[in-house]
Parts: sequence; C-alpha cells; structure tokens
Amino acid sequence: MAKMLDGPVPNGARSVSWPWYHHTLTTELTVDARKLLEQYSKILPEDVESHIYRIRDKAWGVFPWPCVGEFWFLCFGLAKHPLYHTMVLPRLKSGDSLLDLGACLGQDLRKCVFDGAPPDRLYASDLFAEYEDLSYELWRDRDTFPNHFLADDVLSDNGSFMQGNLMMNLGPGQTDMIVINMFLHLFDYSNQLKVATRILRLLSPKPGSIILGSQAGVVEPIEQPLKPPFDKTEDGRKRTIFRHSPESFIQMWEDAGKAAGVPLRPITCEFQKPEATEASAAGVDTGLEAEEKKPFTADDLFSKEPLTRPKVLVQSAPETGRLHFSVIRS
Ligand SMILES: C[S@@+](CC[C@H](N)C(=O)[O-])C[C@H]1O[C@@H](n2cnc3c(N)ncnc32)[C@H](O)[C@@H]1O
Repeated sequence: MAKMLDGPVPNGARSVSWPWYHHTLTTELTVDARKLLEQYSKILPEDVESHIYRIRDKAWGVFPWPCVGEFWFLCFGLAKHPLYHTMVLPRLKSGDSLLDLGACLGQDLRKCVFDGAPPDRLYASDLFAEYEDLSYELWRDRDTFPNHFLADDVLSDNGSFMQGNLMMNLGPGQTDMIVINMFLHLFDYSNQLKVATRILRLLSPKPGSIILGSQAGVVEPIEQPLKPPFDKTEDGRKRTIFRHSPESFIQMWEDAGKAAGVPLRPITCEFQKPEATEASAAGVDTGLEAEEKKPFTADDLFSKEPLTRPKVLVQSAPETGRLHFSVIRS
C-alpha cells in the first residue's frame, strides 16, 4: 500500500461534507458522458443519473479522492489531449498498446473503444484493486472489455515494484503509449521523479513511444503541504505535493530520461488553451448551506504555507490551469 494513502485518512475522511463531494450532478454529465453511458453501456436514459450516483458512492467508500467526489470519471481527459485524434486513436487502430496509469474507473479507455479502438491492447492500472470491479459495474462491459486491470503501487520499493503486477504481467519495455491523466501531481517532487523513471521502464524502446496526459499546473512551481484529510503520511510526516509549471515539468522529464538512459525528444508541456477548457462544474453544488458554498478549486487542497521559493515566473501564463504534455522517445 502506498505511503501516499494509508494511515492518513482519519475517521470521517469519507464524510460527504468535504467540498469535493458533489451531492448532485450539474454540468459534469456532459453530452459525451451521457452518450457513452447510453450507447456503450446501454443504460436507459432515465437510469443514467442514479447509476452514476450509485457507483460514485461505492468508489467514495474506497477512497475520497476529489476525482471521485467531483465525478471526473465522466470527463474524458485523454480525448481532450491535442494528440488524441491525430496520434493516439490512429495508433491504437493500427495495433499499438496503451496503458492508463492511475486509471481510476477507466473512463478514458472506454472512450477509446467507443471511438473505434480495439480493446485487446488496452491496459489499466491503479493502486486500488477495487476499481476493476467498479469500472465493469460503471461501464457494464464485463463481457467485452478485457480483464487487463493491473493493481499496483507506483511508489512501492524497488523490489516490490519489479515483482509487482505491472512489471510481471505487462513487462518492462512493452507499452507503446502510457497515459497519465491527473496523476503525477499527487506526489512530491522526489516521488514524481521516481515514478517518471519507472514509467520510462514500462515504455517500449521503439522510437515514437509516448507518455502523455494532463495535470494541474501553476506558473511558479512549488512544493506545497496538503490540507486534511490528505496532510499526513502514515508515519505522521507532513505530506507535500509538487505543483509544476511547464518548464519544471519538462526539466523533470529530462532528468528522468537521463537517469533511465532513455533519449526523449520532444518533451512538450503547455497550459490547455482557454477554448478547450472543459465547462467543469467543480464545486458548483457542494451540498453545504448556501453561505458556505463556494467553487471548489485545487487550491482548496493546499495549505498556503510554501516549503520552497518559486523558481520560475512566466508572466504571460495563467496562475493555475491544466497542463497538457507529451514525452516522446527519440
Ligand atoms: C486524481 S485520480 C485521476 C484518475 C484518472 N486518471 C482521471 O483522469 O480521472 C488519481 C488516480 O491515481 C491513483 N493512485 C494514487 N496513488 C497511486 C499509487 N501510488 N499507485 C498507483 N495509482 C495511484 C488513485 O487511486 C486515483 O485513481
């Protein structure tokens, strides 16, 4: 079990009064999400909402992630990536493999299948083995979607990782495309570097193999302590996460490439264009009393107390936003 998660969730951490537990769906149930649930999962239109609430509450019982409380599993992050239509889908259709690391309820893989990708070379991995069953329950595709869920902890010690599900059942150097959506930003800097190096070990040595995804970004990179209930490691230390700017993110992958002896070029990372920004309903309905209601943002998770001074300042970029990135093996 990852140090990231065990221990720190005190009693009450699964309380539905955290602001990132949205009591009701608002704009999260997009036309695209409804289409997938009705056409791919064959759920009757009148049953779609109750189906979502039921599975979301089961997933909340596994762990109270913002991505669960806020229904991110209805948002297809991979399909919003600039390379989805031009590179990811065509390569899947011509037989490349893809691993979704930190897949949660597997929405991005289902969207690929709905968009015409063959399912047989799609893999999902997450810390929580429970998500495998919950994904099948959410997407109702137990008979058609392959049993390719590899529960694993990307933060485990080296020996355990090399003997773990990912390395033993998928294997080093076996994956052509690795998706990490809203994933690395869960960790502090040294763990991000460790995970990046491990991801490079899973990636195929073929030139053009790619790691891509999105995550929260800032203009001034910073290591920040988290607020409760995510604020402590199992041994009682303060938990921090590193928030990247495009520049610090690129630098980290250059360092990971050097450490792993993997040539990487190009590495791109930029703030998502405003016109592509999803109409997220983050925090619109927290279920709290009106005067307590305020839009929940990623900043609500962070303590204001910085641990390091900002290293980079880019005047023209927004202060916070979503980063899209791609790391290609040369
Ligand atoms: C913020 S969610 C993002 C889920 C999904 N990729 C998306 O875009 O909606 C992060 C996911 O990473 C998983 N995760 C957290 N720590 C992990 C670890 N140490 N090893 C593997 N997965 C982990 C969580 O369980 C969760 O499903």
